[in-house]
Amino acid sequence: MGKLTGKYAVVTGAGKGIGRAIAERFLEDDVAGVALFDMDEPLVSATAKEMDPTGNRVIAVKCDVSNQENVNAAFAQVNEKFGRVDILVNNAGITRDAMFHKMTIEQAMMVMNVHFYGTFYCCQAVIGGMRERNYGKIVNISSVNALGNVGQANYTSAKCAIEGFTRTLAMESARKNITVNAIAPGMVDTDILKTIPADIMEQKIKATPAQRLADPSEIASVASFLASDDSSWVTGNCIMACGGQKMRG
Ligand SMILES: NC(=O)c1ccc[n+]([C@@H]2O[C@H](COP(=O)([O-])OP(=O)(O)OC[C@H]3O[C@@H](n4cnc5c(N)ncnc54)[C@H](O)[C@@H]3O)[C@@H](O)[C@H]2O)c1
Repeated sequence: MGKLTGKYAVVTGAGKGIGRAIAERFLEDDVAGVALFDMDEPLVSATAKEMDPTGNRVIAVKCDVSNQENVNAAFAQVNEKFGRVDILVNNAGITRDAMFHKMTIEQAMMVMNVHFYGTFYCCQAVIGGMRERNYGKIVNISSVNALGNVGQANYTSAKCAIEGFTRTLAMESARKNITVNAIAPGMVDTDILKTIPADIMEQKIKATPAQRLADPSEIASVASFLASDDSSWVTGNCIMACGGQKMRG
């Protein structure tokens, strides 16, 4: 018996990085099945094969979460294979950084569409079934940068939207035994950091008491807690997982 025995999960943006680490952790927790959603089809297929060559417990689903039709078609595939979704992790994300005075509306909308509307569409696809079955665990990936970060007016706004949405959905869903929480990671060692200049990376690491980047598995362990019944009395929260970067004192 593991923490997630008998449960079916969807993790978005699971081709690599934090999403992949979360899906791997769910497998260790004995999940019955996990669907990896990603818009990068070759990547997510290769990841799913590496994780489970039989394809019995891990499936790859091509899905651009910013497109509602795509999202609904992807969940139809999952329902056909697994029959239901008990756990949803909204993790897919991108950055399009620029100082606000140079930021284009396209950069703003692209980031909002993937992060906020992607989360919104995926939650809408599962919430009805979760309410009917009186069970659900939703985990939304925010960021400590929701507090503000130079060059990320689009990203901070999208992550704040996700955090507000998390609290409201938690309030509306609590009586149906559905918990909705967020995780706000600090800097995690993944490809999304590749566009950040080396001097800024150094500054951020110095500002982190732990003095290092997180490994994706250190975010996955928090997701594992929020996806399991260990967190049955935790809802509407955003847990910072940032090595103390944002602590006060
Ligand atoms: N790495 C960090 O330091 C950090 C810190 C805080 C928050 N986050 C958040 O964690 C999440 C995962 O980031 P990561 O660091 O693993 O990034 P990553 O770039 O390593 O992985 C992101 C994955 O999402 C997929 N993706 C992008 N747009 C998509 C879309 N429209 N539909 C479906 N899939 C899409 C990509 O193909 C990729 O596989 C993001 O929401 C990010 O904002 C990351």
